[in-house]
Amino acid sequence: MVNKMITNTTPETELERLFQAKIDAEQKIEPKDWMPDAYRQNLIRQMSQHAHSEVIGMQPEGNWITRAPSLRRKAVLLSKVQDEAGHGLYLYSATETLGISRAEMITALQTGTAKYASIFNYPTQTWGDMGAIGWLVDGAAICNQVSLQRTSYGPYARSMIRICKEESFHQRQGYQIMIELAHGTPAQKAMAQDSLNRFYWPSLMMFGPHDSESAHSARSMKWKIKRETNDDLRQKFIDQTVSQINYLGLEHPDKALEWNEERGHYNSGDIDWDEFYSVINGNGHCNRQRIQHHVKAHEDGIWVREATAAYNLKKEQRLARDAA
Ligand code: ACO
Repeated sequence: MVNKMITNTTPETELERLFQAKIDAEQKIEPKDWMPDAYRQNLIRQMSQHAHSEVIGMQPEGNWITRAPSLRRKAVLLSKVQDEAGHGLYLYSATETLGISRAEMITALQTGTAKYASIFNYPTQTWGDMGAIGWLVDGAAICNQVSLQRTSYGPYARSMIRICKEESFHQRQGYQIMIELAHGTPAQKAMAQDSLNRFYWPSLMMFGPHDSESAHSARSMKWKIKRETNDDLRQKFIDQTVSQINYLGLEHPDKALEWNEERGHYNSGDIDWDEFYSVINGNGHCNRQRIQHHVKAHEDGIWVREATAAYNLKKEQRLARDAA
């Protein structure tokens, strides 16, 4: 256990040494522990972007709640979308422990300073997209988030445990929609194939640029914020998805996909990185619409925040009066 006494006079280099030793020993960093400013800022960046992704991710699926094909499907989709709001809440709260307010994070999202996952800028055109998102998008998110359960920052790691449990359920409900469509009428099977074709490549982009192009990976791996690299996680997802596509009886969208005996992994075709950078820089199909919708919902909710603040003030005043 790295547990040396830290005082106000401990030199910065010694603090950094102790901090890294703690991380190397797989101990968690907690909110009141000393941490380098760059570690704090990197976590705020990643965690707040993660929170924004959960919240903006409610929009493409929210689009289908009123058009779900049955009452049961509507109830399932509604609760899934509510779960995503919950994930956003845990992550915003966990990020606030690093000394940034929710209001600052929301401003960064709405002004385009902070990113959110590229995948949520693609439109949801058919019911099959609800299957593809649950299966592929939540599936890719789990691949990444299972490893984040071991991230070095305590509040982030703990929030990931519950999120992963819920995401596993989301992934299964998406795959179940795909099974029904893929084994249904020819028109339903064609819908499933079309959704797979449109969401497969953007799902691979969720893991971020290649390791050689990833600005933050090296430092994030050293600090164990990230436990596996973008390319390793993407490979895991590519490998696990092949048998799932086979089981559905659908065609794989990657025509260059090939088993590599030597590596023990599938080789895959090239990702369209121009498309990825265009989307993360604000020029995807739905970027503007997603932010406009968020701004409107946020403004429409001002009265709720004001009412909560007024109620809390009244409660505090009453408690102070009673105590006097
Ligand atoms: N969508 C949008 N932006 C991305 C994406 C993506 N799929 N991948 C990378 N980027 C951005 C990074 O945020 C970074 O931008 P910034 O410097 O402005 O913050 C830039 O591209 C460079 O990428 P990396 O250096 O590889 O960034 P990082 O080390 O943060 O790795 C990753 C990216 C893998 C997404 C990481 O941040 C992560 O694991 N985040 C937590 C998981 C998460 O956010 N999941 C969101 C989807 S899950 C869901 O909502 C259901």
